Parts: sequence; C-alpha cells; structure tokens
Amino acid sequence: MRSIYLDHAATSFPKAPGVAEAMTRYLTNVGGNPGRGSYAAATDAEIASFTLREKLCALFGSPDAESSVFTPGATWGLNLVFKGYLKSGDHVLVSSMEHNAVMRPLNQIPGLYIEKVPCDSEGSLVVGDLSTRIRPQTRLVCLTHASNVCGTLLPVEAVGALCRERGIAFVVDASQTAGHVSVDREKWNADAIVVPGHKGLLGPQGIGAVLMLHAFAQLVEPLVAGGTGSRSNMETQPSELPDKFEAGTQNLPGIYGLLAAVAYVTPRMEALQAEAMRLCGALLDGASRLPNTRILGKQGVEGRVSVVALDFPELDNAMVADRLAREFGIATRCGLHCAPSAHRTLGSFPQGAVRFSLGMGNTDEDIVQTLSALETIVTQRHTFAQG
Ligand SMILES: Cc1ncc(COP(=O)(O)O)c(C=O)c1O
Repeated sequence: MRSIYLDHAATSFPKAPGVAEAMTRYLTNVGGNPGRGSYAAATDAEIASFTLREKLCALFGSPDAESSVFTPGATWGLNLVFKGYLKSGDHVLVSSMEHNAVMRPLNQIPGLYIEKVPCDSEGSLVVGDLSTRIRPQTRLVCLTHASNVCGTLLPVEAVGALCRERGIAFVVDASQTAGHVSVDREKWNADAIVVPGHKGLLGPQGIGAVLMLHAFAQLVEPLVAGGTGSRSNMETQPSELPDKFEAGTQNLPGIYGLLAAVAYVTPRMEALQAEAMRLCGALLDGASRLPNTRILGKQGVEGRVSVVALDFPELDNAMVADRLAREFGIATRCGLHCAPSAHRTLGSFPQGAVRFSLGMGNTDEDIVQTLSALETIVTQRHTFAQG
C-alpha cells in the first residue's frame, strides 16, 4: 500500500533535501561547540549558528540578529516570552483559536488575567472585538498567525499596528505559517515571533527560534540559566544577547539541519505554497461534495493555509482517521489538535475533527486517493444506515 502523508501541520515530512546530510556532517565530521573554543570545529559550529541566525532574521523581517534566539521549538519559545515578560496582575488578550502551546504556559503564570477574544465560526478575528477588550493592565496580545485546526489566517498586521499604538507587547505564534507564507516581524510591529524549525521550514525536530525586537528582548527574563561560553567569570546569567537566552550547549545537529532546510525553502517558498494551496483547493472542492461531511472554518482557499479539518457528523472521527491509516495508508490527525477552544469556536467540540494538512511532496494523486477513500468510508456508513 502506498503511504500518503497528510500531517504536515504536526511535523513536515519529508524534510528538505540536504537536511539529513547536514546533520550527519556535523555529527561525523565537525562536533565542535560554538563559543567554547577557537579550534576549527568550534569555529565551524560558530559560523553555522551565526549564519542560521542571520538567515532566519532575513526571512522573518527581524533585522536584529542578537535578539533572535534558538529554542527547541515553538512551545519553548512561547514559554520563554510569556514567563520572562508577564507578571501577576497583567492582563493578556489571546484569540479563541490558540494552541495549548500558548494557553498552557499562560495558565501557569500566577495572578495573570487571560481573556480570549472570540473568533467567528470560520476562525476569523475581528480587530474591533480585540480593541474593545484592551484595559490599562493589558500588557501583551498573542495571536496565532494561522489556526492549526482549520488553517484560517488571523489579521496579525492590523493587530500589531493597534498594539504598537497602545503600547502593548505583541507576540505572534507563526507555527503554521513560517516557511509557508510571508512572516514579517517588523512589518507587523510584533515584539516577538515564534517559529518552529520542523514544520513549514522543513527542518528537523528540536530546533526553532524566537525573533524579538531588541528593546523587548531586554525586558524579558531568561527562562533557563547556565553556561554560555561567555562571561565565565560571573556566576549570574549574562545580560548580553543572544547569550542571555541560550544557556547550555545548543542543538547543533538541529542548527546544521535547519540551516540546510532554510537554504532550500527560502528561494522556493512561493512555489511550494502555490502547489500546496492548489492541492488544498482540490481537497476542499472534493470534500464539499461528500455526503455528511462538514468542512470546518473557511470553505475556500482564500485567507487560509493548507490545513483542512473535516467533521463527519454521522461517524466517529477517530474511526475515520483510523480507517484512512489502516486501510488506505493515509496519515491524518484526529481529535482536538491541542486547541480545544478553536474547536469550540468552530462548533466541533468535543468530537473534534480529522485534519488533513498538505505540504511538500503531496501530489494530485494523493488528493484523488484521499477523496476516494473518504467516499468509501462515508458511503459505506450510509449504505449500512439505510439498510
Ligand atoms: C499553532 C501552533 N502553535 C504551537 C505549536 C507547538 O510547536 P512545537 O511542537 O514546535 O513546540 C504548534 C504545533 O503543532 C502549533 O500548531
């Protein structure tokens, strides 16, 4: 059975050409630790880290490389920003489409007032609904750039402008858009943008970044302290960036891998996205013709990325995903996708949905086979129900 991978929103696969080779090169031929020595291997690692930082900054409109720091992923980056910046008594606004990578760290901060701005049934946010909720205590707004459940894009540029005008820190979770569509920290007036390396950037797991405005980074306390290879005479965490946030040995195989991935994706981003959206259109079109199938969120390709959630009201969604995998070799993700509030917004709580997320390597044939498999599953149920 041919396998079809439609779970790129969880983690992309395959990775960009050159990623595995770059990681292997580091592990077999390099092996040095940047900032910890002046021998050739340490310098090689220093150059790779520096180059990746510069390339991520260029790609995501964040000119200041020093305040762009590596993290193990988006979750880590969100924890870093929230726990290092927010304090008891602060008021925070988020959309109702946020992932638990946003909600759970916020809920861990004692005395924080968290307010959700409701999105509509397509997962869209009206900026006016957010602005009327701003209070004198509002210190931060966090929005996902695109929903990981239904792919809807949120109006980050307009909200960023509002936050700048009102003097409120603005954080964007670009987990579902980095490497797919334009992400521009400066243009959006964002104080921080969080990106994972293992999704749209087609890099390995365990490496990502937070790109911060320099002045904002200075206000954030480090989440983790430890050796940095710099200021070793001090037993307190240095305040210099990026060392302040990069304690301990970094994920160097990940850095080499992500560097190769970024080199591959950057010149191809528009073409990869155009292809993913073309296939997304075909999937949406086919899904709209299936009986007893509900497309969550936006019905067409406008204002979204290539993440499609389907609810099968007459079936158990987990059973649909399981049959797709076992009988047809199609990998999807079912359930609540770590975003219970997004499912409440879309009217799919508690049953959740089956998510189909497209990316590099998917073909027309994948969509044809997926729609045919879905037709078999929903029609069999129908025949059974009628009989
Ligand atoms: C919208 C969103 N935010 C955050 C995350 C967490 O990303 P990571 O697994 O890289 O920590 C995900 C992962 O699926 C996501 O979809």
